[in-house]
Amino acid sequence: MALWGFEWGVSSSAYQVEGGWNADGKGASVWDTFTHKPGSIVNNANGDVACDSYHRADEDLYMLRALRVKSYRFSLSWPRIFPDGSRASLNQQGVNYYNKLINGLVASNITPMVTLHHWDLPQALQDIGGWENVSMINYFDEFCDFCFATFGDRVKFWMTFNEPYVIAWVAHGQGLLPPGIKNPGYAPYQVAHNLIKAHAKVYHIYDERYRKTQGGLVSISLNADWVEPKDVDVFREVAAADRALQFRLGWFAHPIFKNGDYPDAMKWMVGNKSELQGLPASRLPAFTDEEKEYIQGTADVFCINTYTSEIVHHVTSLLSPPSYDYDQDVREAEMDDSPATAMKGLRVVPWGLRRLLNWIKEEYGNPEIYITENGMSTDSKTTVDDTDRETGAENMNCHLFLLAHNLDGVKLKGYIAWSLLDSFEWLNGYSIGFGLHHVDFNHPERPRTPKRSAHYYYDIMRNNAAAHRAPWSRSGSCSCC
Ligand code: NOJ
Repeated sequence: MALWGFEWGVSSSAYQVEGGWNADGKGASVWDTFTHKPGSIVNNANGDVACDSYHRADEDLYMLRALRVKSYRFSLSWPRIFPDGSRASLNQQGVNYYNKLINGLVASNITPMVTLHHWDLPQALQDIGGWENVSMINYFDEFCDFCFATFGDRVKFWMTFNEPYVIAWVAHGQGLLPPGIKNPGYAPYQVAHNLIKAHAKVYHIYDERYRKTQGGLVSISLNADWVEPKDVDVFREVAAADRALQFRLGWFAHPIFKNGDYPDAMKWMVGNKSELQGLPASRLPAFTDEEKEYIQGTADVFCINTYTSEIVHHVTSLLSPPSYDYDQDVREAEMDDSPATAMKGLRVVPWGLRRLLNWIKEEYGNPEIYITENGMSTDSKTTVDDTDRETGAENMNCHLFLLAHNLDGVKLKGYIAWSLLDSFEWLNGYSIGFGLHHVDFNHPERPRTPKRSAHYYYDIMRNNAAAHRAPWSRSGSCSCC
């Protein structure tokens, strides 16, 4: 079945590809500060130069045209545009770079899909408290308003945040990513509260000031992996799996796509634990009725980043020391019977992806869904011959999306592969490559070379995946679900 209008694309993010970390007046981001501290990243790598995309927009455009993608998802570096986070610090040279990129895409008939914030908060804003500070809502609003006014004549697909769960939990709960705050009981909830309000505000700004003239859409890229209960015949395990999804995806999706409020499972669990701790109120902040109304329905489509599936089982942590399961009483494990990838924990589980899409469909009233990130990694020694990936996981994954689309009535509108090119992979530095193009990071010119998977993806897109129907099964339908 041909998928006319299906949005095939590739993705990247500013800090991971741009480099030019202090070029032409750009301000520092929390990632610049973090990576410049020795010992933070594998091999002390940083994004100072990365793929040098800031100076190589033409090369990126060339790759995108050669791939014949319909869309390119990338993010804007807030400190490149507003070096100290506020409009007063506007850096026109940063704006020029994005204008060049966006104009190049439009001229090539490639739809720009723009993420407004992919983790690289201006350091100056972190210095006044970052996402824990409620004043970030106004700063973010000011930044987005400027971006809509400046780029919105050509950009029609906006995502406010990339993976707010990671900002809230991994950066402020586990403390693994900058700003490195390890306060799992409180900070993630406060941060998420601010992120959700900031998102809603930006959605309304677009609605009130730009939608009529620009006619685009606004969403948010959430992330989740499918979680399979350890034992589907045990009620407690099934409930634990559902709770895990609510704590990760529902945390943001429930307020935005359902009723403006957190999922019951979260309210109950965090409230109960807070009570047992003798606290006067739940550590999970509450929205007022007015806020709920304001937040509900603030996304035009559902954007999801997803990479793997896990097995979940119930544990009773009660008031044990803070750990992953502190408030949710679940523990996750890898599916060790599924193909492994270079990045630990990211096993490829196509049937899990199908279930995740169906869960979203059921839970949120059958929204239009875009997979805004999905992919798999190889180690950095793999250059152009990433045959495993080409013949294995990506094949199965791509096929499964389409099965979900065709068989289950999931309204899947697009698939955006991560990633256009190998890039700075956060804590893993350059030791892992997600790219369809290899980048030689030892060469000053950062030459890009298509991997076999780029050719393969090109074919998938050209044929709308029709020619890649479950080659591993005789019936032509998939054998793994
Ligand atoms: C999610 C993030 O959005 C992206 O920045 C990262 O590189 C990929 N996952 C792979 O880890």
